[in-house]
Amino acid sequence: MHIPFNKPYLSGREIEYIKQAIESNKTSGNGFYTQRCHEFFEDKYSFGKTFLTTSCTDALEMSAILMDIKPGDQIILPAYTFVSTANAFVLRGADLVFADSEQNTPNLDVNSIESLINPKTKAIVVVHYGGVACDMDKVLNIAKQHDLYVVEDAAQGIDSYYNGQPLGSLGDFAAFSFHETKNIISGEGGMLVVNNEKYIDRAEIIWEKGTNRAAFFRGEVSKYNWIDIGSSFLPSEITAAFLWGQLENLDAIQLKRKELWERYYSLLVGLQDKEQLILPVIPDYATKNGHLFYIVCKDKSERDSLITHLKSNDVHALFHYLSLEQSPFYKDKHDGRKLPNAERYTDCLVRLPMYYDLSDSEVIRVVEFIMDFYNK
Ligand SMILES: Cc1ncc(COP(=O)(O)O)c(C=O)c1O
Repeated sequence: MHIPFNKPYLSGREIEYIKQAIESNKTSGNGFYTQRCHEFFEDKYSFGKTFLTTSCTDALEMSAILMDIKPGDQIILPAYTFVSTANAFVLRGADLVFADSEQNTPNLDVNSIESLINPKTKAIVVVHYGGVACDMDKVLNIAKQHDLYVVEDAAQGIDSYYNGQPLGSLGDFAAFSFHETKNIISGEGGMLVVNNEKYIDRAEIIWEKGTNRAAFFRGEVSKYNWIDIGSSFLPSEITAAFLWGQLENLDAIQLKRKELWERYYSLLVGLQDKEQLILPVIPDYATKNGHLFYIVCKDKSERDSLITHLKSNDVHALFHYLSLEQSPFYKDKHDGRKLPNAERYTDCLVRLPMYYDLSDSEVIRVVEFIMDFYNK
Protein backbone atom coordinates (compact mmCIF):
# COMPACT_ATOMS: atom_id res chain seq x y z
CA MET A 1 0.00 0.00 0.00
CA HIS A 2 1.21 3.45 -0.98
CA ILE A 3 2.53 5.64 1.86
CA PRO A 4 2.20 9.28 0.80
CA PHE A 5 4.43 12.04 2.07
CA ASN A 6 1.52 13.96 3.58
CA LYS A 7 -2.19 13.47 4.24
CA PRO A 8 -4.06 16.57 5.37
CA TYR A 9 -5.56 16.06 8.84
CA LEU A 10 -9.31 16.57 9.34
CA SER A 11 -11.01 16.69 12.73
CA GLY A 12 -14.42 16.06 11.14
CA ARG A 13 -15.95 19.29 12.46
CA GLU A 14 -14.65 21.63 9.77
CA ILE A 15 -17.80 21.34 7.62
CA GLU A 16 -20.10 21.94 10.60
CA TYR A 17 -18.29 25.19 11.42
CA ILE A 18 -18.17 26.28 7.78
CA LYS A 19 -21.94 25.64 7.58
CA GLN A 20 -22.45 27.80 10.66
CA ALA A 21 -20.38 30.58 9.10
CA ILE A 22 -22.46 30.41 5.93
CA GLU A 23 -25.75 30.33 7.84
CA SER A 24 -24.72 33.33 9.93
CA ASN A 25 -24.59 35.37 6.70
CA LYS A 26 -21.05 36.49 7.50
CA THR A 27 -18.60 34.76 5.19
CA SER A 28 -16.16 37.62 4.58
CA GLY A 29 -13.23 38.07 6.95
CA ASN A 30 -12.76 39.20 10.56
CA GLY A 31 -15.98 37.69 11.92
CA PHE A 32 -16.80 35.24 14.71
CA TYR A 33 -14.40 32.44 13.71
CA THR A 34 -11.51 34.76 12.88
CA GLN A 35 -11.83 36.35 16.31
CA ARG A 36 -12.15 32.96 17.99
CA CYS A 37 -8.92 31.80 16.35
CA HIS A 38 -7.16 35.05 17.33
CA GLU A 39 -8.21 34.64 20.96
CA PHE A 40 -7.11 31.02 20.98
CA PHE A 41 -3.59 31.84 19.79
CA GLU A 42 -3.21 34.92 21.96
CA ASP A 43 -4.34 33.05 25.11
CA LYS A 44 -2.47 29.80 24.54
CA TYR A 45 0.85 31.25 23.40
CA SER A 46 0.90 34.76 24.92
CA PHE A 47 1.32 36.20 21.45
CA GLY A 48 1.00 39.96 21.04
CA LYS A 49 -1.75 40.69 18.51
CA THR A 50 -2.61 38.04 15.93
CA PHE A 51 -3.99 38.50 12.42
CA LEU A 52 -5.12 35.50 10.40
CA THR A 53 -3.89 35.82 6.83
CA THR A 54 -4.47 33.89 3.63
CA SER A 55 -0.95 32.41 3.86
CA CYS A 56 2.35 32.64 5.68
CA THR A 57 3.61 34.34 2.53
CA ASP A 58 1.09 37.13 3.11
CA ALA A 59 2.04 37.40 6.78
CA LEU A 60 5.70 37.85 5.80
CA GLU A 61 4.70 40.48 3.24
CA MET A 62 2.76 42.33 5.93
CA SER A 63 5.83 42.31 8.16
CA ALA A 64 7.92 43.82 5.34
CA ILE A 65 5.36 46.63 4.90
CA LEU A 66 5.21 47.24 8.65
CA MET A 67 8.99 47.59 8.85
CA ASP A 68 8.89 50.07 5.95
CA ILE A 69 11.42 48.07 3.99
CA LYS A 70 12.70 50.17 1.08
CA PRO A 71 15.00 49.68 -1.93
CA GLY A 72 18.57 49.35 -0.72
CA ASP A 73 17.69 47.99 2.74
CA GLN A 74 19.39 44.73 3.59
CA ILE A 75 17.76 41.70 5.18
CA ILE A 76 19.71 38.85 6.77
CA LEU A 77 18.00 35.49 6.32
CA PRO A 78 18.95 31.85 5.92
CA ALA A 79 19.64 30.64 2.39
CA TYR A 80 18.11 27.29 3.27
CA THR A 81 14.45 28.31 3.31
CA PHE A 82 11.30 28.58 1.25
CA VAL A 83 11.15 31.29 -1.38
CA SER A 84 8.47 33.28 0.49
CA THR A 85 10.91 34.13 3.31
CA ALA A 86 12.92 36.00 0.69
CA ASN A 87 10.27 37.21 -1.73
CA ALA A 88 8.39 39.22 0.90
CA PHE A 89 11.39 41.55 1.17
CA VAL A 90 12.47 41.49 -2.48
CA LEU A 91 8.97 42.74 -3.34
CA ARG A 92 9.80 45.92 -1.39
CA GLY A 93 13.16 46.35 -3.11
CA ALA A 94 15.39 44.95 -0.36
CA ASP A 95 18.71 43.20 -0.94
CA LEU A 96 19.11 39.79 0.61
CA VAL A 97 22.14 38.76 2.64
CA PHE A 98 22.05 35.00 2.99
CA ALA A 99 23.37 33.32 6.12
CA ASP A 100 24.61 29.75 6.07
CA SER A 101 22.93 26.98 8.08
CA GLU A 102 24.46 25.55 11.22
CA GLN A 103 26.53 22.41 10.94
CA ASN A 104 24.10 20.47 13.16
CA THR A 105 20.73 21.85 12.06
CA PRO A 106 19.36 23.51 8.92
CA ASN A 107 18.62 26.67 10.98
CA LEU A 108 20.66 29.77 10.26
CA ASP A 109 24.06 29.94 11.96
CA VAL A 110 23.49 32.69 14.51
CA ASN A 111 27.24 33.03 15.01
CA SER A 112 27.58 34.26 11.43
CA ILE A 113 25.04 37.08 11.78
CA GLU A 114 27.32 39.83 13.18
CA SER A 115 29.73 39.59 10.26
CA LEU A 116 26.81 40.17 7.84
CA ILE A 117 25.57 43.38 9.47
CA ASN A 118 26.31 46.81 7.97
CA PRO A 119 24.57 50.24 8.12
CA LYS A 120 22.01 49.14 5.52
CA THR A 121 20.86 46.11 7.51
CA LYS A 122 17.24 46.47 8.66
CA ALA A 123 16.14 43.05 9.88
CA ILE A 124 17.14 39.54 10.80
CA VAL A 125 14.66 36.94 9.59
CA VAL A 126 15.00 33.53 11.21
CA VAL A 127 13.31 30.31 10.13
CA HIS A 128 12.62 27.67 12.78
CA TYR A 129 13.24 24.74 10.46
CA GLY A 130 10.94 21.78 11.07
CA GLY A 131 9.57 23.58 14.13
CA VAL A 132 12.96 23.50 15.92
CA ALA A 133 13.92 26.88 17.40
CA CYS A 134 16.88 28.96 16.35
CA ASP A 135 19.04 30.21 19.22
CA MET A 136 16.84 33.23 19.82
CA ASP A 137 18.66 34.80 22.79
CA LYS A 138 21.68 35.33 20.57
CA VAL A 139 19.54 36.66 17.71
CA LEU A 140 17.62 39.04 19.97
CA ASN A 141 20.82 40.33 21.61
CA ILE A 142 22.46 41.04 18.28
CA ALA A 143 19.29 42.75 17.03
CA LYS A 144 19.14 44.91 20.14
CA GLN A 145 22.78 45.96 19.87
CA HIS A 146 22.40 46.95 16.22
CA ASP A 147 18.81 48.24 16.41
CA LEU A 148 17.41 45.69 13.96
CA TYR A 149 13.99 44.12 13.64
CA VAL A 150 13.58 40.38 14.21
CA VAL A 151 11.05 38.42 12.18
CA GLU A 152 10.38 34.78 12.99
CA ASP A 153 9.36 32.74 9.97
CA ALA A 154 7.50 30.19 12.06
CA ALA A 155 5.73 28.63 9.06
CA GLN A 156 6.46 25.20 10.58
CA GLY A 157 6.77 26.31 14.19
CA ILE A 158 3.33 26.01 15.77
CA ASP A 159 3.31 24.74 19.35
CA SER A 160 7.07 24.54 19.67
CA TYR A 161 9.25 26.33 22.20
CA TYR A 162 12.55 28.09 22.80
CA ASN A 163 13.64 27.82 26.45
CA GLY A 164 9.98 27.50 27.40
CA GLN A 165 8.81 30.43 25.29
CA PRO A 166 6.48 29.71 22.35
CA LEU A 167 7.94 30.20 18.89
CA GLY A 168 6.25 33.21 17.39
CA SER A 169 6.29 35.13 20.67
CA LEU A 170 9.94 36.22 20.47
CA GLY A 171 10.44 38.46 17.43
CA ASP A 172 8.89 41.84 16.62
CA PHE A 173 6.83 39.88 14.11
CA ALA A 174 6.19 36.20 13.41
CA ALA A 175 4.54 34.42 10.50
CA PHE A 176 2.80 31.02 10.64
CA SER A 177 1.49 28.78 7.87
CA PHE A 178 -1.69 26.72 7.88
CA HIS A 179 -1.09 25.28 4.41
CA GLU A 180 -2.35 21.72 4.09
CA THR A 181 1.13 20.29 4.73
CA LYS A 182 1.39 21.85 8.19
CA ASN A 183 0.38 20.48 11.62
CA ILE A 184 -2.85 22.50 11.67
CA ILE A 185 -4.34 23.55 8.39
CA SER A 186 -7.00 25.56 6.59
CA GLY A 187 -6.16 24.62 2.99
CA GLU A 188 -4.15 27.75 2.38
CA GLY A 189 -3.81 29.98 5.42
CA GLY A 190 -1.47 31.76 7.76
CA MET A 191 -1.13 34.24 10.59
CA LEU A 192 0.90 37.31 11.40
CA VAL A 193 1.83 37.84 15.05
CA VAL A 194 2.70 41.39 16.02
CA ASN A 195 4.58 41.31 19.33
CA ASN A 196 5.96 44.85 19.08
CA GLU A 197 3.03 46.94 20.31
CA LYS A 198 4.03 49.98 18.24
CA TYR A 199 2.92 48.20 15.08
CA ILE A 200 -0.44 46.74 16.09
CA ASP A 201 -2.71 49.56 14.89
CA ARG A 202 -0.97 49.89 11.56
CA ALA A 203 -1.00 46.10 11.07
CA GLU A 204 -4.80 46.09 11.28
CA ILE A 205 -5.01 48.82 8.63
CA ILE A 206 -2.61 47.08 6.25
CA TRP A 207 -4.56 43.84 6.80
CA GLU A 208 -7.79 45.61 5.76
CA LYS A 209 -6.56 46.96 2.40
CA GLY A 210 -5.10 50.15 3.86
CA THR A 211 -8.39 51.23 5.45
CA ASN A 212 -9.63 51.71 9.00
CA ARG A 213 -12.61 49.45 8.30
CA ALA A 214 -12.01 47.29 11.39
CA ALA A 215 -12.12 50.40 13.62
CA PHE A 216 -15.33 51.47 11.82
CA PHE A 217 -17.02 48.12 12.54
CA ARG A 218 -16.04 48.45 16.20
CA GLY A 219 -17.77 51.86 16.20
CA GLU A 220 -14.53 53.76 16.80
CA VAL A 221 -14.85 55.98 13.69
CA SER A 222 -17.99 57.21 11.92
CA LYS A 223 -16.89 56.22 8.41
CA TYR A 224 -13.97 54.30 7.08
CA ASN A 225 -11.37 55.64 4.76
CA TRP A 226 -8.21 54.88 2.83
CA ILE A 227 -5.40 55.86 5.18
CA ASP A 228 -2.31 53.77 4.31
CA ILE A 229 -1.00 51.18 1.87
CA GLY A 230 -2.34 47.68 2.37
CA SER A 231 -3.86 44.70 0.68
CA SER A 232 -6.48 42.01 1.07
CA PHE A 233 -4.54 39.96 3.59
CA LEU A 234 -7.43 38.69 5.71
CA PRO A 235 -8.99 35.30 4.94
CA SER A 236 -12.72 34.64 4.73
CA GLU A 237 -14.72 33.28 7.64
CA ILE A 238 -14.93 30.00 5.72
CA THR A 239 -11.17 29.58 6.07
CA ALA A 240 -11.25 30.66 9.73
CA ALA A 241 -14.12 28.24 10.49
CA PHE A 242 -12.08 25.40 8.97
CA LEU A 243 -9.09 26.39 11.09
CA TRP A 244 -11.22 26.49 14.23
CA GLY A 245 -12.21 22.87 13.57
CA GLN A 246 -8.51 22.03 13.74
CA LEU A 247 -7.56 24.18 16.73
CA GLU A 248 -9.97 22.32 18.97
CA ASN A 249 -7.84 19.20 18.35
CA LEU A 250 -4.44 20.81 18.50
CA ASP A 251 -3.25 18.90 21.58
CA ALA A 252 -4.18 15.51 20.11
CA ILE A 253 -2.54 16.39 16.79
CA GLN A 254 0.67 17.44 18.51
CA LEU A 255 0.78 14.37 20.73
CA LYS A 256 0.44 12.03 17.76
CA ARG A 257 2.97 13.84 15.59
CA LYS A 258 5.56 13.90 18.37
CA GLU A 259 5.03 10.17 18.97
CA LEU A 260 5.65 9.50 15.27
CA TRP A 261 8.81 11.60 15.40
CA GLU A 262 10.09 9.65 18.44
CA ARG A 263 9.26 6.37 16.72
CA TYR A 264 11.24 7.23 13.59
CA TYR A 265 14.12 8.41 15.76
CA SER A 266 14.32 5.31 17.92
CA LEU A 267 14.00 2.94 14.95
CA LEU A 268 16.69 4.76 12.94
CA VAL A 269 19.21 5.62 15.64
CA GLY A 270 21.06 2.32 15.05
CA LEU A 271 21.91 3.46 11.51
CA GLN A 272 23.18 6.74 12.93
CA ASP A 273 25.32 4.80 15.45
CA LYS A 274 26.85 2.96 12.49
CA GLU A 275 27.48 6.37 10.87
CA GLN A 276 25.31 5.53 7.89
CA LEU A 277 23.06 8.56 8.18
CA ILE A 278 22.46 11.57 10.42
CA LEU A 279 19.26 12.19 12.39
CA PRO A 280 17.81 15.58 13.42
CA VAL A 281 19.44 17.38 16.34
CA ILE A 282 17.19 19.14 18.87
CA PRO A 283 19.35 21.64 20.81
CA ASP A 284 18.83 21.92 24.59
CA TYR A 285 17.00 25.23 24.19
CA ALA A 286 14.51 23.82 21.65
CA THR A 287 11.57 21.42 21.50
CA LYS A 288 10.21 19.46 18.59
CA ASN A 289 6.63 19.76 17.33
CA GLY A 290 6.59 16.72 15.06
CA HIS A 291 6.20 18.86 11.97
CA LEU A 292 8.65 16.86 9.89
CA PHE A 293 11.17 14.08 10.23
CA TYR A 294 14.30 14.21 8.10
CA ILE A 295 17.50 12.29 7.69
CA VAL A 296 20.74 13.60 6.25
CA CYS A 297 22.56 11.29 3.81
CA LYS A 298 26.27 11.16 3.03
CA ASP A 299 25.95 12.93 -0.33
CA LYS A 300 23.49 13.87 -3.06
CA SER A 301 23.82 10.69 -5.05
CA GLU A 302 23.07 8.57 -1.97
CA ARG A 303 20.13 10.82 -1.08
CA ASP A 304 18.67 10.64 -4.59
CA SER A 305 19.10 6.84 -4.69
CA LEU A 306 17.36 6.52 -1.32
CA ILE A 307 14.38 8.57 -2.54
CA THR A 308 14.23 6.36 -5.68
CA HIS A 309 14.49 3.20 -3.58
CA LEU A 310 11.62 4.36 -1.34
CA LYS A 311 9.57 5.35 -4.38
CA SER A 312 10.04 1.91 -5.94
CA ASN A 313 8.56 0.55 -2.68
CA ASP A 314 5.61 2.93 -2.86
CA VAL A 315 6.88 5.32 -0.18
CA HIS A 316 6.90 9.01 -1.02
CA ALA A 317 9.91 10.76 0.57
CA LEU A 318 11.03 14.24 -0.45
CA PHE A 319 14.09 16.44 -0.52
CA HIS A 320 13.48 20.00 0.69
CA TYR A 321 14.66 23.53 -0.07
CA LEU A 322 17.10 24.42 -2.82
CA SER A 323 19.42 26.91 -1.17
CA LEU A 324 18.24 30.32 -2.42
CA GLU A 325 21.65 31.87 -3.19
CA GLN A 326 21.89 29.33 -6.02
CA SER A 327 18.40 29.97 -7.41
CA PRO A 328 18.02 31.17 -11.01
CA PHE A 329 16.36 34.34 -9.68
CA TYR A 330 18.97 35.33 -7.10
CA LYS A 331 22.31 33.73 -7.99
CA ASP A 332 23.57 36.80 -9.92
CA LYS A 333 22.56 39.10 -7.06
CA HIS A 334 24.19 36.99 -4.31
CA ASP A 335 27.52 38.31 -3.01
CA GLY A 336 29.30 35.09 -3.94
CA ARG A 337 29.96 33.72 -0.44
CA LYS A 338 29.95 29.92 -0.29
CA LEU A 339 27.32 28.51 2.07
CA PRO A 340 28.51 24.93 2.54
CA ASN A 341 26.02 23.81 5.19
CA ALA A 342 23.00 25.15 3.27
CA GLU A 343 24.33 23.38 0.19
CA ARG A 344 24.78 20.14 2.15
CA TYR A 345 21.16 20.24 3.35
CA THR A 346 20.04 21.04 -0.20
CA ASP A 347 21.85 17.96 -1.50
CA CYS A 348 21.60 15.47 1.35
CA LEU A 349 18.38 16.01 3.31
CA VAL A 350 15.36 13.76 2.81
CA ARG A 351 12.00 14.13 4.55
CA LEU A 352 10.06 10.97 5.46
CA PRO A 353 6.26 10.58 5.41
CA MET A 354 4.76 12.39 8.39
CA TYR A 355 1.07 12.97 9.04
CA TYR A 356 -1.49 12.40 11.79
CA ASP A 357 -2.97 9.23 10.26
CA LEU A 358 0.39 7.53 9.70
CA SER A 359 0.24 4.21 11.55
CA ASP A 360 2.96 2.55 13.55
CA SER A 361 3.15 -0.31 11.03
CA GLU A 362 3.65 2.23 8.24
CA VAL A 363 6.50 3.89 10.14
CA ILE A 364 8.06 0.43 10.58
CA ARG A 365 7.68 -0.28 6.85
CA VAL A 366 9.34 3.01 5.89
CA VAL A 367 12.22 2.27 8.27
CA GLU A 368 12.60 -1.30 6.95
CA PHE A 369 12.97 0.02 3.40
CA ILE A 370 15.62 2.46 4.63
CA MET A 371 17.45 -0.38 6.38
CA ASP A 372 17.29 -2.52 3.19
CA PHE A 373 18.85 0.38 1.36
CA TYR A 374 21.77 0.75 3.78
CA ASN A 375 22.30 -2.98 4.21
CA LYS A 376 22.64 -3.59 0.47
C1 LIG B 1 9.88 28.45 5.96
C2 LIG B 1 8.63 28.75 5.17
N1 LIG B 1 8.21 30.02 5.08
C3 LIG B 1 7.09 30.34 4.39
C4 LIG B 1 6.34 29.37 3.77
C5 LIG B 1 5.11 29.79 3.01
O1 LIG B 1 3.93 29.35 3.61
P1 LIG B 1 2.53 29.53 2.87
O2 LIG B 1 2.41 28.40 1.90
O3 LIG B 1 1.50 29.45 3.97
O4 LIG B 1 2.53 30.86 2.21
C6 LIG B 1 6.74 28.04 3.82
C7 LIG B 1 5.96 27.01 3.16
O5 LIG B 1 6.02 25.85 3.44
C8 LIG B 1 7.93 27.72 4.54
O6 LIG B 1 8.38 26.45 4.61
